[in-house]
Amino acid sequence: MDIIANIDVLREQVIAWRRQGLSTAFVPTMGNLHDGHLTLVKEAQKFADRVVVSIFVNPMQFNQATDLAAYPRTLDADCRALQSVDTDLVFTPSPELIYPHGLASQTFIQVPGISEVLEGAHRPGHFNGVSTIVAKLFNLVQPDVALFGEKDFQQLALIRHMVADLAMPIQIVGVPTVREKSGLAMSSRNGLLTAEERMIAPLLAEVMTTITSQVSKDTQANKALVTQATAQLNAAGFNTDAIDIVDADTLATITKETQEAVILMAAFLGKARLIDNKVIKLS
Ligand code: PAJ
Repeated sequence: MDIIANIDVLREQVIAWRRQGLSTAFVPTMGNLHDGHLTLVKEAQKFADRVVVSIFVNPMQFNQATDLAAYPRTLDADCRALQSVDTDLVFTPSPELIYPHGLASQTFIQVPGISEVLEGAHRPGHFNGVSTIVAKLFNLVQPDVALFGEKDFQQLALIRHMVADLAMPIQIVGVPTVREKSGLAMSSRNGLLTAEERMIAPLLAEVMTTITSQVSKDTQANKALVTQATAQLNAAGFNTDAIDIVDADTLATITKETQEAVILMAAFLGKARLIDNKVIKLS
């Protein structure tokens, strides 16, 4: 497994594979890897001859400098984990290489609509940071296929939209959320939970699953479900940030035409902001 921080060396390798007729799959990450990320890598191996993983804690997508500084950086352990699942190349660029003009004068990509609602409304500028870094990494790695977790539902929708709008020749694959035995979605943020909070955390997915069968096209009824879920979670010690039931395609209000709805949950538990989601077919 090659660990490469240099853009020219990365490009040489990518071009060499292309010349040999080998296809490339790409899994972008911010490191602090867990089994969810490694599942993306294993899935990627089914789609292409070579798999590239990037590890880059992207300053452009953080709203708070303190969050950026506190983001766990565990490069050695990450590389060992990636080696154990036969990753071909790990790309670990520095912020200076990625943002040569500095963040303030970085050309950016904005996906209208999707980037501004829900999670985007809570974190202004966050999704511009995500679309810009992913587009930039796509230009560097030039993959045939790229894989993203369904856990970050809005992020996946954003990337699909960008790739379609800009006619990027890359297949986007969504991978179902990998969970712990308790049902808790795996996340780097779970590391922030105390032992006591870890016992409570699975309730987020439980409450979501409980209301799933009752989700319908009736917006008022869905609002009542949100109120019920909010009360249940807050009583258990969560501090809910956003619970929404929206059209899974548009991420806007459910209409008569909606075929699939999605429940999007974001709740603080102690220091950790946990997210989860579930897609529901509507009849
Ligand atoms: P990061 O949070 O490191 O996640 C990297 C990828 O792993 C994302 O596609 C995310 O959805 C996926 N992932 C995380 N937890 C998962 C789980 N439990 N099951 C399945 N997939 C999971 O998302 C980012 O980084 C960044 O925004 C990035 C796309 C790299 C751009 O900077």
